[in-house]
Order: sequence, then structure tokens, then C-alpha cells
Amino acid sequence: MTALTLTNVNKSFGNVHVLKDITLEVEEGEFVVFVGPSGCGKSTLLRVIAGLEDASSGEINIGGQQVNLVPPSKRGIAMVFQSYALYPHLNVRGNMTLALKQEKQPKAVIEERVANASRMLNLEDYLDRYPSELSGGQRQRVAIGRAIVREPKLFLFDEPLSNLDAALRMNTRIEIANLHRALDASMIYVTHDQTEAMTLADKIVVLRDGRVEQTGTPMELYNNPANQFVAGFLGSPSMNFLPEGLLGSGQNTIGIRPEDLYLSDDGPLAARVSHVEKLGGDTNVIAKIHDHAVTARLFGQHAISEGQELRFAYAADKAYRFDAAGQRLR
Ligand SMILES: Nc1ncnc2c1ncn2[C@@H]1O[C@H](COP(=O)(O)OP(=O)(O)OP(=O)(O)O)[C@@H](O)[C@H]1O
Ligand SMILES: [Mg+2]
Repeated sequence: MTALTLTNVNKSFGNVHVLKDITLEVEEGEFVVFVGPSGCGKSTLLRVIAGLEDASSGEINIGGQQVNLVPPSKRGIAMVFQSYALYPHLNVRGNMTLALKQEKQPKAVIEERVANASRMLNLEDYLDRYPSELSGGQRQRVAIGRAIVREPKLFLFDEPLSNLDAALRMNTRIEIANLHRALDASMIYVTHDQTEAMTLADKIVVLRDGRVEQTGTPMELYNNPANQFVAGFLGSPSMNFLPEGLLGSGQNTIGIRPEDLYLSDDGPLAARVSHVEKLGGDTNVIAKIHDHAVTARLFGQHAISEGQELRFAYAADKAYRFDAAGQRLR
């Protein structure tokens, strides 16, 4: 059974058309990640699924039931936001149990669920603390715990880790992956972070200007982008785009990922280095080919400096071609 089906969902605020004919499915137990530029409608889509906003048209079906008119609390979902908004006057236990008390769950059930969630999230030692006495990462775990105890059929996460520092993000990312495995629940996760999208997702949905641009596994989208937008959006640093005319003849655009460019004395791309980023394990070389900036991601450390003239090559089967409208050519 599918956990969620959206069929031709539209959402307008006044005359601003934000979501345009969104059709997609989330399978039971699937981890789906929404990505797309700021303002493309990711949060609005989550809010429509949660019932915090009404769809202007289209159908929302959760676990086999049409829920367009079902209030948020009855949809079997739990949402975790970027601004985790814990209740400051309640301790961790109080924050985690509030919704269950409102649902009038028996005391034994509440205790068992809080015990399970706090064990999974390493919060057992913090149950009596107040939010102001916790680190950012601990607060975010409480917000996730608050969702887990409700045992939802579907979790909705809106950039839950974006307030955390890099190390904590990585730990929490791994915790979320483990949690998904342990709970076997369906999850929808919005992020701007490439690594989170690529590593957490069973399926990525790329949104652009309120529409679904492409859907697929992370590797399908990376290896087989349908168009120039998806090709440029997934992958970090982004794919390089060069006019075909620069490499011979033609009117199309050639796309080459930074990791597919390599140094070669007789390579076809003559470039002048404009900037070098030495990352230790990798070296990003930003260079100009005529007026076009390209980035090459070279493995390991290289003695390359600004102003240097280099030649790059690439394997023909690593190059993508796009027409003037940005559609992929085979
Ligand atoms: N209540 C509202 N009234 C009017 N317009 C709104 C409302 N909420 C969102 N919008 C508009 O809808 C569009 C999508 O907003 P949304 O918050 O869904 O984007 P997003 O993809 O989550 O962006 P970000 O990555 O910055 O969080 C934006 O243009 C936004 O200004
Ligand atoms: Mg948002």
C-alpha cells in the first residue's frame, strides 16, 4: 500500500499559484527527500500534506484514506520543523508527552513510548532538563522525539538539521537514517543539503517553481538527469555547462561534472586558473575557459596556483548534452 498519494495538487495564496499539479507517491517505509531552490514550494507542500494549509484543488490520500477534509491531528502524521519550537516551560519529558496527554493515552502507554524514544535518541539522561538547558542538537532530538512518541504513519521533516554545526549534522543525519530503519515508517524530508539528500533518500523529488521537475533514486538523478536544471541542481560542486561551439561545432550545451574533469597536457580544454580551494583530500580548481568559469574537482593535493595555464580532458561518455530549452539530448 502507498503511504501517501498526491494527485494534481494545487495551492494558491490569493493569485499567487505556488504548487502546480503535484502528483507523487510515497511507498510505505520509503524515505523521500524534497529538494529545490528557495521559494519553490517545499514547505508549502509539507504543510498541505500535514493539513496546516488546505489544497486549492487535487486529492491527498494518506494510507488509503482521502484526507483533504481531515484535520491535521487526525491524519496520522507528525511534523518536525527547522525551528523546533519546544515549550520552554516544560522539561524534555513534558515536551515529549504533551500530545499524548492531549490524546488521553493511558499512562503506561505514555511511559513506554517516552522510554523507547529517549533510548533511541540518547535523551535518557536529559528527561528532567528544560529546553534552555540543552544544546541545539539535543533540542532538535527532543523535537524528533516528540514526533516519534506519536507513532505516526508518516513523518514530515522540514530542514530539521539546518541549525546544527557540521559535526552534529553528520551525527544527527546518521541517527535519522538509523531511526528510519528502526521505525520502518514513511518519511518525507526537506533539505538544502546535498549530502543529506543523496545519503538519506530512497527517492528524491526535485521541485522547481511549484512543479515536480524529476523524481528518482539519488543515483538515477545524478547519472541520468532529465534536464539541465536537475543536472545543475544535484551534485556539489555543480555540473559545468559549456557551449558546444567552444569544443568544436554545435548549438547545444555540454555538461561535465567537476569530478569528471582531469588534468591532461594534450586535453581539449585550455583554461586559466582563477581560484584554488585546497580541501586536503580534494582540490577544487576554478578556472576560465575563454569567458566560461569551470570547476574541476581533482583527487588529492595539487601544487596549482592562480593565473596558471592548464589543460583539462574528460571521458566522452561522461559528457551530457542539453538543447537550448535545457532538455537532455541523448
Ligand atoms: N501564507 C502565504 N501567503 C502568500 N505566499 C506564501 C505564503 N506561504 C508561502 N508563500 C509563497 O509561496 C512560495 C513557496 O514558499 P515555501 O515556503 O513553500 O518555499 P520553500 O521551497 O520552502 O523555500 P525555502 O527553501 O526558502 O524554505 C514562496 O514564493 C512564498 O513567498
Ligand atoms: Mg521552506
